[in-house]
Order: sequence, then structure tokens, then C-alpha cells
Amino acid sequence: MPRVIAITSEKGGVGKSTLAVHLTGAFHQRGLHAVLVDEDGRVGSSLRWARRSPPGAGVELAFPVLAPDDVRPKKLADADVVLIDTEGRPKRKELRRLATRADVILVPCGPGALELEATRELLDFLGGDGEAGRKARVVLTRVPPVGRAGEEARENLRDEGLTVCNTLVRHYAAYQKAAELGVLACNVRDARAETAWNDILTLSRELL
Ligand SMILES: Nc1ncnc2c1ncn2[C@@H]1O[C@H](COP(=O)(O)OP(=O)(O)OP(=O)(O)O)[C@@H](O)[C@H]1O
Ligand SMILES: [Mg+2]
Repeated sequence: MPRVIAITSEKGGVGKSTLAVHLTGAFHQRGLHAVLVDEDGRVGSSLRWARRSPPGAGVELAFPVLAPDDVRPKKLADADVVLIDTEGRPKRKELRRLATRADVILVPCGPGALELEATRELLDFLGGDGEAGRKARVVLTRVPPVGRAGEEARENLRDEGLTVCNTLVRHYAAYQKAAELGVLACNVRDARAETAWNDILTLSRELL
């Protein structure tokens, strides 16, 4: 059975799709059979990302990005890891359902106070002691590369008993360029492209 990693958040625009596409790309680059399922019917952002990839240029996304309707058990059976990109601010019922399907619920969150508050609410709902709570992991994203905001947020959340990934995914323009071009950050022309990609590779190793 593949390891299922669902990416969700209480707020929109925190970096779910960016993380979903890049993590799937990192698993793929490491030789794992990785599949991305885009369950954000509203925007379909990962699917759109894949569609923007320039065909034939050698930089298109090299892993399958599926719409929920295209998911067949057979397509996922031989996958090592399945990532699920979801809509921001999911309904409680959907969140519960997601928690039963996933092995890990990854909650990206910026280091700002409001996002941290929203993340605490989400993890509160998932419950610290229950199975869903145990599956939940916060990952700090869009962390300013300068200063200690990411480290401080990570330590504070940990002090409150939350599980937080060690890797901080820092804020780099390479991710925005990658989204615009429909490629991965490692394939954009940018001085920080490799640094950005290394954050993702490190995070992928923490997860599988
Ligand atoms: N680590 C990062 N560094 C710089 N920019 C980032 C980073 N992560 C995300 N972004 C940018 O933040 C914006 C929102 O990212 P993204 O679309 O991944 O969020 P989302 O949580 O999927 O949003 P939605 O809730 O609308 O689906 C995009 O412009 C994206 O390029
Ligand atoms: Mg999204």
C-alpha cells in the first residue's frame, strides 16, 4: 500500500499546492513511484500547474497528476507514495474523511501570527490524542530566509505539543516562477532555485 500524504490547511493560499507539486517531484527524483491527486475542484491548481508544463522541453512534471475522477485503484496500487492536494479551509466532515484516508496530514503554515492561530485551530479540531491528531504534522512554509521567525514558530508549536517538521521551507521567488512556468523550482533560472529545491528534498526525506 502506498503511503498517503494529504496536504490541507485552515487558511487558503498558504502554499499547499506548491508543496504538493514539489514534494511529489522530490519523491519522484528519489526514484519512488509518486502520484499527485488534485482534490481541489475549486481551482484545480496542481492540475493546472501540470498543464502549464512546456511539452518536449524536458522540464515537464515527470509524475502523474490526477483528478479525483481519474483515480483508479490500479493506478495507485503500485505507487510508493500518493500526495493529495486539497482545497483550503475544508469542511469538518471532509477533514475527518481525509484523516481516515491519509497516513500523514501535512499542514503547511507560514510563521505569521494569524496563520499560526488558524493552524492551531485545525490541529485542535483533529485532536491531539486521537488517531487523526497523531497523523497531523505542521510544516512551516514561506519562511523568511533571513532571521529566526521559522525556528521560533517551530519551537513555540512544539512547546504546545504539536508535531512540527524539522525542515523549514523558506520563501523563495523560485517557487512562484515554477508555478508560472508549470515546472519545479529546480528547473527555473534563479539564483536560489537549488536552495529552494534542497528544502523540499530534505522535507521529503523527513516524510518517507
Ligand atoms: N515557499 C514559498 N516561497 C515563495 N512563495 C511561495 C512559497 N510557497 C507558496 N508560495 C506562493 O504563495 C502563493 C500561494 O501558494 P499555493 O497556491 O501553493 O497555496 P495554496 O495553499 O495551494 O492556495 P489555495 O488555498 O488557493 O489552494 C503562490 O503565489 C505561491 O507561488
Ligand atoms: Mg492550492
